[in-house]
Amino acid sequence: AIERTFSIIKPDATARNLTGAVNAIIEKAGLKIVAQKRILMTRAQAETFYAVHKARPFFGELVDFMISGPVVVQVLEGEGAILKYRDVMGATDPSKAADGTIRKAHAKSIGENSVHGSDAAETATIEIAQFFAGNEIVG
Ligand code: CMP
Repeated sequence: AIERTFSIIKPDATARNLTGAVNAIIEKAGLKIVAQKRILMTRAQAETFYAVHKARPFFGELVDFMISGPVVVQVLEGEGAILKYRDVMGATDPSKAADGTIRKAHAKSIGENSVHGSDAAETATIEIAQFFAGNEIVG
């Protein structure tokens, strides 16, 4: 089925001017960027977005990192987009990411790992709604 997933190009990637390089990998994989904006997340937005990780030891570090510079939030659309984008991103830990993936090519570490993608349909819907109004998504 045609799905939508939520993506973030993280501060480590925007700082290195890799937005276009990441988008090229996304588009080459057959995913369509149907919404996109560059923003500075507020602390409250980052804390809400990562609320499921609140109890993790890395939560504070994760929030600090996500607000340390611009991010590009996106909606990606395509056949099986959620799983497909997870394949395209590669493993969370870049040292375990497969060749050809965004994280293998660009990520610096498990924390500064260049991109985020939704893990399931329910989270994709919630994450998209946190950053985009319906009329900002044009398929
Ligand atoms: P993301 O897909 O955005 O969702 C949760 C994020 O937590 C994950 O990517 C990583 O960037 C981050 N993360 C996971 N494990 C660690 C860790 N051990 N230390 C720091 N950050 C982590």
